[in-house]
Amino acid sequence: MCGIAGYIGKNCAEKQLLESLKLLEYRGYDSAGIAVQDKNKINITKTTGKIIALENMLTSTKSICGIAHTRWATHGAPTYENTHPHLSNDSTWAVVHNGIIENYGTIKKDLISKGYNFKSETDTEVIANLLQQQNSNDIHALINTCNMLIGSYALACINKNIPNKIFLARKKSPLYVASEQGEVFIASDPVCFLSKASEYYTLADNQYCIASTKHLEFFNTSGQKINLQPTKTEKFDISYQKHNYKHYMEKEINQVPAVLNNLIETYKSADLLKKFDKNYLAKFNKIVLIGCGTAYHAGLMGARYIQEFARIDASCHIASEYRYCNPIIDNKTLCILVSQSGETADTLAVCELAKAHGATTVALTNVLYSTLARMADEILPVCAGTEIAVASTKAYTAQITVLYMFAKQLQNVIANKKENYYEIVHKLAKKITIPSPKSLKKAVLEVLASEKVFFIGRDYDYVSVKEASLKLKEITYINTAEHPAGELKHGFLSLVDKNSVVFALATQQHLLNKTLNGAHEALARGAKVIMVSQFNIPKEQTQGFYHTVKLQKFSEELLPISCISFFQLLAYETSLAKGLNPDQPRNLAKSVTVE
Ligand code: F6R
Repeated sequence: MCGIAGYIGKNCAEKQLLESLKLLEYRGYDSAGIAVQDKNKINITKTTGKIIALENMLTSTKSICGIAHTRWATHGAPTYENTHPHLSNDSTWAVVHNGIIENYGTIKKDLISKGYNFKSETDTEVIANLLQQQNSNDIHALINTCNMLIGSYALACINKNIPNKIFLARKKSPLYVASEQGEVFIASDPVCFLSKASEYYTLADNQYCIASTKHLEFFNTSGQKINLQPTKTEKFDISYQKHNYKHYMEKEINQVPAVLNNLIETYKSADLLKKFDKNYLAKFNKIVLIGCGTAYHAGLMGARYIQEFARIDASCHIASEYRYCNPIIDNKTLCILVSQSGETADTLAVCELAKAHGATTVALTNVLYSTLARMADEILPVCAGTEIAVASTKAYTAQITVLYMFAKQLQNVIANKKENYYEIVHKLAKKITIPSPKSLKKAVLEVLASEKVFFIGRDYDYVSVKEASLKLKEITYINTAEHPAGELKHGFLSLVDKNSVVFALATQQHLLNKTLNGAHEALARGAKVIMVSQFNIPKEQTQGFYHTVKLQKFSEELLPISCISFFQLLAYETSLAKGLNPDQPRNLAKSVTVE
């Protein structure tokens, strides 16, 4: 959702900023730009398209101070004019912004009435002009500007008359700064300076900074200097190598067995679930799980596991809905916020809301330095390692595995059981295999040949097909839909014809025949049915089906963890067959830091 970066130091600013932009590209790749200080002016290089397009335009200069941006378009199409950095009318200030300014329309109208011109349709350009209007060269220019803004922002600004200084502000969008041996690094994600700085500072909401190589000065909204405590960088384990894989997505799906092993190791060695004991649980009468997209699906699965194993009232909600639905939440609620990145704006908003209502919050996140991890009362690490492909795969598998173990832990506590869930997951990790591309060929060809792709399933399988359907639409741009297999006759069947392919997932014995009924209802309307199951289904029951996919056998409660890689690879292979880049689907970004 846009990435911003800044650099001051002894090296070529463009080169350093480009390096950071490449690491931030997961946050958006609609356009990119860099502004550097050059004597008494600001030079801007920007272009639509990916970072590689910007790289081809850049020439090394002597500039040692600049800011940069990679954009995921919110206000205004991904055009050259809307590409950041944005300049003030007098070209004094250049600004890069991650976030959304909700009242930019009113501000823009006011500035226009005062004679300001606007080149872009963005909300950001008002910030550059508000800075100009302040007519000041100290932190108050930025503080006064921010006081007029409603919305979210991480801002990095340079002024042509203030050499080698970058002004920073943050509200509800992440922003980090590090200073090491005469160099300053600024970014939306500390991954940009992990190899360069031994510690970094995290700006909190309504905090400001003037960064220079001499010092980092932090301020509160009153302009008073404040002290921030740095965080050490060593604890991050980041791998950006694709190894022998064509895409990150392929690599990440294939990493699942290793991820599961690492996860068990981490949880077992520190007995991370031990704290959820009788005393802990006695405080709560319900568990609410929250997430967006794939993380929401992981939460749905977690809620089912908790209800099934521990018999505790558990439900999962979409963060953007929950925050505005006047939820019933109090100090007896345990709220689990599921987020790979830990930066999803709506999920953070629910965390804030839950805390304000006295609930206890748990962050189930893959990024331990994220805003969510810092905000929540407890952390359940996802331990999936860096996930770079925009479509979440290994993180989903790891999230539902943690929720499985968590639910088993609650069951042990409540029912006085001693089930060794580490051992169960360990066995799964040892046995699990990722399907080969060859085994998917038939299904991929059918998806490519069909106009409509549907997924049906019940209970656990309904959650899995929701995720399967999202994955396929996300990276292939095929219009897909998922339905509970028992609901077909209540509307869905009117869509089904000979141009449809229906994937029917059945992994629970007591629901097998029910899902088969749904599959036959679709078959009777001309659909090509692809049955996906670990059971040996008698031939008579699959007569007329186009294809049957045999899943690896595990216990029914583990099948949601093991079966999803088939659907993830189905999406991946279909995307490849369509000539697309599965790692960077159009219009999407990995980290959704705006509402
Ligand atoms: C889908 C996908 C998104 C994310 C969603 C939440 O493949 O990746 O739907 O799951 O944007 O992101 P996090 O988990 O970072 O909160």
